[in-house]
Amino acid sequence: MGEKWVLMKTAQTPTNIAVIKYRGKRDETLILPVNDSISVTLDPAHLCTTTTVAVSPAFQQDRMWLNGKEISLSGGRYQNCLREIRKRAREVEDKEKGIKIEKKDWEKLHLHIASYNNFPTAAGLASSAAGFACLVFALAKLMNVEEDESQLSAIARQGSGSACRSLFGGFVKWIMGKEEDGSDSLAVQLVDEKHWDDLFIVIAVVSSRQKETSSTSGMHESVETSLLLQHRAKEVVPKRTIQMEEAIKGRDFASFAKLTCADSNQFHAVCLDTSPPIFYMNDTSHRIISHVEKWNRSEGSPQVAYTFDAGPNAVLIARNRKAAAQLLQRLLFSFPPKSDTDLDSYIIGDKTILQDAGLEGMRDVEALSPPPENGSAQKYPGDVNYFICTRPGKGPILLSNENLALLDPETGLPK
Ligand code: DP6
Repeated sequence: MGEKWVLMKTAQTPTNIAVIKYRGKRDETLILPVNDSISVTLDPAHLCTTTTVAVSPAFQQDRMWLNGKEISLSGGRYQNCLREIRKRAREVEDKEKGIKIEKKDWEKLHLHIASYNNFPTAAGLASSAAGFACLVFALAKLMNVEEDESQLSAIARQGSGSACRSLFGGFVKWIMGKEEDGSDSLAVQLVDEKHWDDLFIVIAVVSSRQKETSSTSGMHESVETSLLLQHRAKEVVPKRTIQMEEAIKGRDFASFAKLTCADSNQFHAVCLDTSPPIFYMNDTSHRIISHVEKWNRSEGSPQVAYTFDAGPNAVLIARNRKAAAQLLQRLLFSFPPKSDTDLDSYIIGDKTILQDAGLEGMRDVEALSPPPENGSAQKYPGDVNYFICTRPGKGPILLSNENLALLDPETGLPK
């Protein structure tokens, strides 16, 4: 082996939002959950992580840069993912570049990793899910690992539980598994992203200070103190996952919405049942819930499902584009942007929905009329930072265009 070469791969991986939540671990090191969970993968065009991984005999140590800043890889979660993926590395040959790496060489070779989120980390959207999934997926490609996506998901799981569900597009189930070593705790795809093409997703990024309790430490407290968590894991989720799978496979929106909202509310009830109690939602979150509940009721059948993770942001899944357009009109009436924010930066992502909502080119949302079912018609300008419009999306992909790599192909350092 010459000493000069750098070999690299770049991958892009989506984030996901759970519709049946993961809350509670039975093993904190291996990250094994107390119940199954189900998620929808979000379109990577609007929310994703891009990661470049590189190997070279010139590298002195494993190093990683996240959003341009060097971070430590010494944490157990990174170390577990790196160790597991290195174990599975195989021979790699790049004839064009004259590079050959034997299986045994991988133990000695060091890695450089650069990762970038196309959405603000401070928005409180699950960046660790896309991040660990992308790290594991990119390394698997670089190291010519044979394992399939489900097997890789069991490695990504050891970085962050929810990451295992980001190895697939569409709707995904994380099977909790029974084995002590975690080998059967992995993700499987239920249906791909084309199966339920009507769905449209609007995320309200709600204004708040930095999140107070991390998902990881909060989860530990819930397992230790919440009786509701035990009841949920034993009695509620096993039945609910079966119903949810049926709703997804049959594209039954009424059932899907009912289960999604109920599970989000139970997850937050578990947080409240934790000692000391944890509050992830705020007044704006609660107002959004009551808007959606009122509207769904007035329509006679659900138009929109809501779900909230470990923070105040609302993820709203609309039955189709028409419902999403009406939802946006309603939300913009109650949660208009601050006077110095224009609509173009207030609604981001898939802006094609603006046309459907008759909002395209609109300068001022003052012209919107109040939703008929909303008695108080009060307005809360600035309580939502912005809306992201998106759809269910595809799973991880390898990017072949070298220009998209985050590391320099000569030096292996961030560009
Ligand atoms: C509320 O996957 O972030 O988003 O496994 O400790 O890294 P760790 O936790 P994490 O928890 C996510 C919890 C959730 C619900 C979910 O995604 O299922």
